This record gives sequence, structure tokens and C-alpha cells, in this order.
Amino acid sequence: MTNLTPSNTPVLTQDELKTLVGQAALQYVVPGEIVGVGTGSTVNKFIDALASMKDQIKGAVSSSVASTERLKALGIPVFDSNEVAELSVYIDGADEIDGQGNMVKGGGAALTREKIVAAQSKVFVCIADESKLVETLGQFPLPVEVIPMAAKRVMQQFAAMGGKAHIRLKEGQPLVTDNGQIIVDVLGLKITDPLAFESQVSQWPGVVTVGVFAHQKAKVCLLGTATGVKTLTF
Ligand code: 5RP
Repeated sequence: MTNLTPSNTPVLTQDELKTLVGQAALQYVVPGEIVGVGTGSTVNKFIDALASMKDQIKGAVSSSVASTERLKALGIPVFDSNEVAELSVYIDGADEIDGQGNMVKGGGAALTREKIVAAQSKVFVCIADESKLVETLGQFPLPVEVIPMAAKRVMQQFAAMGGKAHIRLKEGQPLVTDNGQIIVDVLGLKITDPLAFESQVSQWPGVVTVGVFAHQKAKVCLLGTATGVKTLTF
């Protein structure tokens, strides 16, 4: 529902902001090509908008089972990432994005496939509402996909850094990712050097993917704000 401010200016809800940025992302889709598609509630808005130009694109490479199902249900062909050499653009949301385009991702547990498709793409376009813009990454619990055997050791390593880690649960059981692994969420980190942090944690045995996207950071962010979509470039 859209509320009004005292001056009668409509205040868009978070859901409406997501729709706005999802639609705005269409301008980055290259006709005749395959587009990289992320995961999450904001990306769902993008997928819905993409259906309006499905006859102009070859299809999509998807970053999760959930996005694949949504794309296919709308009649958009989905390609395996191994079938495609390079993508011109990857469109995805974020849990946090800083002023340099570094992000925390993985709130939807799809971080590994998201990083793979992002790495395959020339340009990462992040779509987000303005609540996601932060000065320093680390307010949102950092998702890390790990092999179950390594969970305890990885959590101890985060504790040594001052973080507080726990295994993400779904219906009382460890959530299992599309890749058959589990997610550790880490609270209390202040990630001041995202590039170095991502490199460091990625080397820990048993870590599949850390949810810091600095090596695959955004080049563009379409940010949904009270006054419309702001375009940030990095
Ligand atoms: C999924 C992600 C999402 O991009 C992130 O969680 C943002 O999701 P939403 O658009 O629902 O806020 O990284 O793994």
C-alpha cells in the first residue's frame, strides 16, 4: 500500500521500490543475448519485468533453482552456465552494498551460484532499495556457504576475528543449499577491506563461498529511493 507524506507526496513501500528497480534494470538487457539472472525478492521483480521482452532475448543463465523455476514458468529459456562463454550483464540484488560497489550477498542462500554467474559477466548491475546502502559492510549477518564437515572450524575462525557465527536453520534443521552444502551466518563483523577479507576467508578449508562480493563487485547500482531510481556507478 502506498502511504502519503504530510505534503501528499506518495511514499513508496519497499515492495514498490523493488518493482521500480526491477523494471529499471531492463535497460541493461542486451537484445539478442543471454542475460545473467540473480536470486531474491528484488530479482523476482526483474524476472517478471523481463517476461515483457522475452522474445527479444535468447534466454538467461540462472543463479538458483528458484530463479530457474520462475524464469521457465514465464517462458524464458534457461541455459547452463557451461554452455555460455561470457555474459554481457548480470542482474542481481544484494543484502548490503557500499559506496564502492562491494556487496554482501547470500541472504537467499544462493551466493555460490551468484558468484559464478557474476564472474562470467562483464557488468554486474545491482538492484536494491535504499535500505541496502551502507557505509561499511557487516551489519547484515554475513552468509558463508561451507561443507558441513568444516562448519565448527570455520565458526571458530570467525570467533577469533570477533564474529559470532551460527548455522542457518530451516524448519529446525540446517538449511541445505542448491549445492548440497550448509550456510553459516556471521554477526558482528566490520568489513573495512572487503577485497582482502574475501581473499582471506575464501582460502579457509571447507569454505565454498564467502558472501562478500568485492572481486565480483557491482559496476552499477540501481537504487530505489523515495524520489525514484538513483543510478550509482563504481
Ligand atoms: C540471495 C541474495 C539476494 O540478492 C539478497 O539476499 C537480496 O535479496 P532480496 O532482493 O530478497 O532483498 O544474495 O542469495
